Order: sequence, then C-alpha cells, then structure tokens
Amino acid sequence: MSGPGEAGGPPEAAPSPLDLVVIPGDGIGPELVDSALQVLARVAALDGFEYRLTTVDAGATAYRRTGRALPDGALERLRAADGVLKGPVGLPDVRHPDGTEAGLLGGLLRTGLDTFANVRPMRLLPGVTGATRHGPGEIDYVVVRENTEGLYLSRGAGAATPHAASDQLMVTRVGTERVVRYAFELARGRMGAAADGARRVTCVDKSNVLRSYALFRRVFDEVARDYPDIGTEHLYADAAAHELVARPQTFDVLVMENFLGDILSDLGAATVGGLGMCGSLNAGTDAAYAEPVHGSAPDIAGRGLANPVSQILSLALLLDHAGRTSAGDRVRGAVESALSRGDFELGERGQPVRGTQSVTAAVCENLRPG
Ligand code: NAI
Ligand code: MG
Repeated sequence: MSGPGEAGGPPEAAPSPLDLVVIPGDGIGPELVDSALQVLARVAALDGFEYRLTTVDAGATAYRRTGRALPDGALERLRAADGVLKGPVGLPDVRHPDGTEAGLLGGLLRTGLDTFANVRPMRLLPGVTGATRHGPGEIDYVVVRENTEGLYLSRGAGAATPHAASDQLMVTRVGTERVVRYAFELARGRMGAAADGARRVTCVDKSNVLRSYALFRRVFDEVARDYPDIGTEHLYADAAAHELVARPQTFDVLVMENFLGDILSDLGAATVGGLGMCGSLNAGTDAAYAEPVHGSAPDIAGRGLANPVSQILSLALLLDHAGRTSAGDRVRGAVESALSRGDFELGERGQPVRGTQSVTAAVCENLRPG
C-alpha cells in the first residue's frame, strides 16, 4: 500500500498556511509591528510560504477601552496559533488602584501560556556601536531566562503594610529542569562561544547566598550530565554582570532565574547597540510568542522614530520556532547586510537617523532571492 505522495497515491497536500496572531500593543508597538509585517510579507514571498494573520487587541489601550488587558478567550486563540508576534505594551498612566500598571501582559501570557523559556539572543552586528569596545562577531550569545517562576512569581502576591513589604523567590525542580534542558538543547544547535568556538552553557545564580539559587545550581548540574558534549560553567550573578561587559566573547548560552535574566539581559542589550536591537522569544511546550525586550517607549511613540530591528529580529525567532528556519535566517541576514552596507544608520541613542521606515525599507531591500 502506498502512502500519501508516493507513486500511485494521492498528491501531497500543500502545507497549510502559517497561522499567526498579532498583538500590535501600545506606544511604539503598532509602528514596530507594522514594520515586521512588511518584512514578513517579503520573506514569505521569497521563501514561498503562506500565512494567515489574526489581530488581538491587548494591553493598556485595550484595558482603557474594555477594562481588560487581554480579551476573553484570547489565551485559547494564542495557544492554537503557530505563533504570536507581540508588540510592546503598557502605558505608565494606565494603572490599578494599588499603583501597578494595568496594561501589561507579561504575567498573563507567560503564566497563561506556560512559556517557560525567555530566549534573548545578543549579537553585536556590523555598523553598530555597543557600549563596550568590542567589535562585530565578538558578542554573540543567548540569555535563556526562566520565565514562569523565580522572584516574579510573587507578582501581585507579596505581603505589604505601609511600613514593610516582602516578595518571595520561588525556584522549583520541575521549573528549573525544563529551562536548563532548553538551554542545553539550544547550545547543541549553535556554533559555540565567539572566543573559542566551544559550546558551553553558563549557569548564573547567587547560590553562595540563597537556598533557592542553590537548588537552581544543583538541578543545573544534574541536567548537565545528560549533555557531556556541552561544556558548563558557573558564575555568580554579580561576577556575571562584570564578565558580560569585560569578556562577552567567552559566552555561548547562559541560563538563569527570572529576575536575574531580566536585569542581565538589559545589560547585554547595552553592549549590542541598545534595547532596539534585541528581539526575544517566549517559548513553551504548547505556545510561543515573540516580542522586543523593551517597552512601549511612550516618549517617542507615534513619531516614526523607533528602531524596529527588535521587532524584526523577534519575527525571525518566531519563524525559527514555527519551523521556518530558512526564513528566520534570511531575515537576520537582511538586517546584517543592511547594516554592513550602511543602508540605515543608528544615532547615539540607538534610534534610526532617518526614522523607522528607513530601517524597514532597508531590511526589505536586503531580502533577496538565493
Ligand atoms: P522602554 O523600554 O519603553 O523605554 C526605555 C527607553 O528606551 C526610552 O527612552 C525609549 O525611547 C527607548 N527605546 C525603547 N525601545 C526603543 C526602540 N525600539 N527604538 C528606540 N528607542 C527605544 O521602557 P519604559 O519607558 O521604562 O517603559 C514604558 C512602558 O513599557 C511602561 O508602561 C512599561 O511598563 C512597559 N514595558 C513593557 C514591556 C513589554 O511589553 N514587554 C517591557 C518593558 C516595559
Ligand atoms: Mg525587562
């Protein structure tokens, strides 16, 4: 008996279009997402795949209009999609009575979709000036931040009186094991650290002080035994902050608790040209969404000044995740070649000298067949 596509069987069905959900977000979000969608249209045409887009309005503007940051049924819709492209959300004047912001989605999406790994590649590209003296090719590592527990599990749950407040840092064996495994698998698919080409996962913690971090390190060591082909390293977070500035070329993949990952990845961003150069993927077993590492930049919103590279590189990560790695590589290649050729330029504060659309046009122009 012959299967589908074999001689004599029915012709192979065309692959179904990628089912993508878009959350335009707040502030500069819609401008950035528009830019990434222009890039998506071009790369899909070149790579010969089809996609379908659904827009979900969520965030601070949605909260102001409806009283909810995420509409009913949205999580199910996001989980069913092949991937979600999210713009930054949040507006500082949209707040709950307790003073915290009402338009943020981090807790709702990361917990709701159980996207336990926050993947933040840091690459210094040609033509970009980072905050350190390193050159292109010298900074190329990935921060894998645990995304569902750690200190931020205490979000909205800490104890507070007018005179005292406390939050708890929760590390679990299951939560640590899955994110550490993700980091080792990621390292297997990479070419190693810039300095020596050695594949390596660095465990960052403060196990010298806190029991929660000691558990994180113990679980890291246990998982590492399953990956004898990958080198390991331990660094305390304070020393890691120093090394990420002094010797970033020695890093390949780093894995750490949620709060440490939040802080150290912004530090890394400064070394590769700023927040506007950094995309990220929130990945789980059943869902994934990609977003810039930065916020909605209300100070420059609506003026076409923002750098869309963060959103474009987020799109590339989403394409990888959806199995379209050649399209993801093509997008990264176009950003890199546009920068090497000087097709767009970034000013001192990481903003494109000729505006958002100049970057979008340059990246689209550098997306070429072949
Ligand atoms: P922010 O990241 O929005 O802005 C910090 C600084 O970086 C600003 O000067 C901004 O103009 C600049 N900047 C950020 N992205 C840029 C880009 N692509 N191109 C050029 N310059 C860029 O952080 P801020 O101001 O603390 O927060 C603004 C809002 O964003 C708040 O409501 C905050 O809660 C929210 N937020 C949302 C996040 C998300 O949706 N994942 C993450 C972080 C903050
Ligand atoms: Mg952050």
